[in-house]
Amino acid sequence: MSTKTESWGSRVGLILAMAGNAVGLGNFLRFPVQAVQNGGGAFIIPYLVCFLVMGIPLLFIEWSSGRFGGRSGNHSTPYILDSMAKGRLWKYIGVFGIFTNIAVAAYYCYIESWTMSYVYHSIVGTFSDMSQAQVAGFFESYTDIAESTTGIPYEAVIFYIICLLLNTFILSKGLGGIEKVAKIGMPLLISFGVILAIRGLTLGTSGASDIFPDANAWDGLNFLWTPQFDSLTSPKVWLAAAGQIFFTLSVGMGTIHCYAAYLKSKDDIALNAVSAGFMNEFVEVVLGSLIVIPIAAGYLGLDWVIQNAGFGMAFQTMPYLFQQWGSSLAIIAGVCWFGLLFFAGITSSLAMGTPWMGFMKDEFNWSKNKGAWSFGGLVLIMGLPTVIFYKEGLFDQYDYWAGTVSLVVFAFLETVLFSYIFGIKKGWAEINSGADIKIPRIYKYIILIVTPSLLAWVLISSIPDWIDKVKDNDTNNKEWFAKEFHAENFDGEGKNSGTVVEVSANAVKFSFED
Ligand code: PHE
Ligand code: NA
Repeated sequence: MSTKTESWGSRVGLILAMAGNAVGLGNFLRFPVQAVQNGGGAFIIPYLVCFLVMGIPLLFIEWSSGRFGGRSGNHSTPYILDSMAKGRLWKYIGVFGIFTNIAVAAYYCYIESWTMSYVYHSIVGTFSDMSQAQVAGFFESYTDIAESTTGIPYEAVIFYIICLLLNTFILSKGLGGIEKVAKIGMPLLISFGVILAIRGLTLGTSGASDIFPDANAWDGLNFLWTPQFDSLTSPKVWLAAAGQIFFTLSVGMGTIHCYAAYLKSKDDIALNAVSAGFMNEFVEVVLGSLIVIPIAAGYLGLDWVIQNAGFGMAFQTMPYLFQQWGSSLAIIAGVCWFGLLFFAGITSSLAMGTPWMGFMKDEFNWSKNKGAWSFGGLVLIMGLPTVIFYKEGLFDQYDYWAGTVSLVVFAFLETVLFSYIFGIKKGWAEINSGADIKIPRIYKYIILIVTPSLLAWVLISSIPDWIDKVKDNDTNNKEWFAKEFHAENFDGEGKNSGTVVEVSANAVKFSFED
């Protein structure tokens, strides 16, 4: 146990840090991909149900568990969970959560490093005069680290290491550093997000249609928002929806516990948790679905989007869009968009460092410096393979096992702990103590019955999907598609000039003649 020496500077600082933790690459890059891969409108209903009966309850559980543990001087998930129950078991479950953070940070920081590199390439004008195919191809060669043609040898690895160094440095400054980054990043992020969303919405409808030969941005939106009821019984879709809700709310890993451990004992939880949650959902559902999907569908067609949906989609499309705005605007837009993604990313990856640092402090009384650098080192060891073997699809495996399955497992266990071992009576009192709003009483029963049952069902029924994932059926789907597909919309000029040259788990690679 350690003594409480740090706390949040202000309520605004806390809210922004918690919102910064939640709002991340998940909102702009992961949500659209998950939605597309799970049937668009078929995904949205499970997604919203999961938000209401699992996301919100888990926010309450994690905020209140964190504040509860912090009261006795604990700042890490193992110690916080341990303070809620007798027996060592819960401490080990907390440790499991810490390793999830390291595994997620490993690939998350890789995407974050792309955003840094793309800010750089926007400034130096790498994308000017590139065709849509070349912009898309740039990303392919960037991530193919062995034969990088970006001008800098092993560029992807270099930016990855710079990104980890930056995270480590800020983490070594403690809570104050995190709060400062959130105060600068969050307002910037929201303002530019709104501008781009408006632009995304008006694509293909305002005389810009010469850029889109036979595809339309609205196709993307319709696909996302036309509800489909037939996949409501598919466990795969429910696992993906629950996984996305947890990922995007930063639930199921222990980061919220750690942030909340620095609350004062009478501070509000209820209103804070709900505000951070709804703010995240606004950014995700509104901004997250108005930017990448419509724009990618506008240029490349919905078919391309469906078959190539991945974290890279925004990198393969947005720089080309910005070029259409003229070369100086293109620089500004590129810096703002990739800067927005960078701030979204770093305020989240910093959060992933806190459970490890808190644990090293609680357990061994390690300094912030030691905690931060050891975290950076572990992430590097876990992450380098995903960088080097990106084309082999290792990255997607991390996202599935660490970024989806582990979160659901952890969320299930902590709900059982909260409702049945700590006890719902104490738990409900804890959530409501100091509350600035009155939470509807039905949530007490949701937390007690609905949340754990739905979690158990999702976990058990998705086991066949786990087996599928191990057998990598995804690559087979893409191989099949590659044979059928002739890249009609792909070069942005309507020319049927692409040939499939390579298929990997992440993408179908084309070659083009100019
Ligand atoms: N919520 C973050 C996002 O949407 C990711 C994250 C998950 C951050 C878990 C911290 C903990 O990008
Ligand atoms: Na999020």
